[in-house]
Amino acid sequence: MAKIIFIEHNGTQRDVEVGPGGTVMQAALDNLVPGIVGDCGGACSCATCHTYVDPAWLARLPPMSEEERMLLEGSLSVEENSRLCCQLQITPALDGLVLRTPASQF
Ligand code: FES
Repeated sequence: MAKIIFIEHNGTQRDVEVGPGGTVMQAALDNLVPGIVGDCGGACSCATCHTYVDPAWLARLPPMSEEERMLLEGSLSVEENSRLCCQLQITPALDGLVLRTPASQF
């Protein structure tokens, strides 16, 4: 199990306990986390699963693929700590991951 901590734009925190095997985006949808849309179902083609990774976690995540990088480059409100959470596979190593959701995905 891994606990993923989502912090909404308004500061509301939601802790989600998930087993390994899925993606952080799917865990957010399954647990009705506001601010994550996931329009493309995780195909890395919509960027509506955009999140901001807590700086303490940036170096602990797997590197971004070129596909993810290119999609983020064309997205709104992107910061240095932006990641598409459909590209983050849940493993025990992500236990305690803190992600902030943007004000809007559109
Ligand atoms: Fe579409 Fe992540 S769900 S890019």
